[in-house]
Amino acid sequence: MGSIKDQLILDKLPRHVAVIMDGNGRWAQKKGNSRIFGHQHGVTAVREITEAAAELGLGYLTLYAFSTENWRRPQREVNALMSLLVSTISSETKTLLKNNVKLNTIGCKECLPKNVLKKLEDSEKATSENTGLTLTLALSYSSRWEIVEATKKIAVDIQNGKTKTNEITDEVFNTYLTTYNLPDPELMIRTSGELRISNFLLWQIAYSELYFSEVLWPDYRKEDFYEALLDYQKRERRFGKTSQQI
Ligand code: FPP
Repeated sequence: MGSIKDQLILDKLPRHVAVIMDGNGRWAQKKGNSRIFGHQHGVTAVREITEAAAELGLGYLTLYAFSTENWRRPQREVNALMSLLVSTISSETKTLLKNNVKLNTIGCKECLPKNVLKKLEDSEKATSENTGLTLTLALSYSSRWEIVEATKKIAVDIQNGKTKTNEITDEVFNTYLTTYNLPDPELMIRTSGELRISNFLLWQIAYSELYFSEVLWPDYRKEDFYEALLDYQKRERRFGKTSQQI
């Protein structure tokens, strides 16, 4: 039997896929290990899916790596996630360069520890000329945070006379979001069987297709990703129109 990959129609792939990587903790606990062990193995899945996206020629892959709410986790777990980020970025930047992947981050940068921010900025700078896949890590990110920040910036611009209230359209609002340089995702995937969006890209997924996988993130592999893409290709995206109009 061939791979699911062979069934994909290459010119009908989504341009942008967003992923809620969930289930690291449960994966580790099932094995009688600490949640941190699950995050460490989650890195393998990050590598696999980034590679799959780059090989397929997708334009954008956005991963929910750490939410605003994740700061409330036990300090030990937060610290472990932060050092995992630093070590992964240090070890993977070369691979990103080799594969023409551009690193991008969204979220509250000032909320991150200085050493994490420095590593991210170094890697973003090093990969900034790459023209292949844009890999965006959402870190200390939540949609409500982002929308509130955008609103504050708009208020300041109105106060300073840079813009007028009646000039704020859907498109203009979009330019104030941290995702201003990304197209909206056509597909959002969540792993681990949870059926929630958890404050991720709420504005941007207005018309996205949603796909939920039972697989826990550390076990998520290329074939699982292809399966989601294949499912996406079977859907009819109507954007409010009727079937006949498409
Ligand atoms: C969700 O699983 C996962 C996270 C909060 C962190 C995701 C981080 C990684 C995959 C590793 C580092 C990432 C990069 C980009 C280097 P969970 O802990 O909520 O799992 P649970 O729902 O089973 O408790």
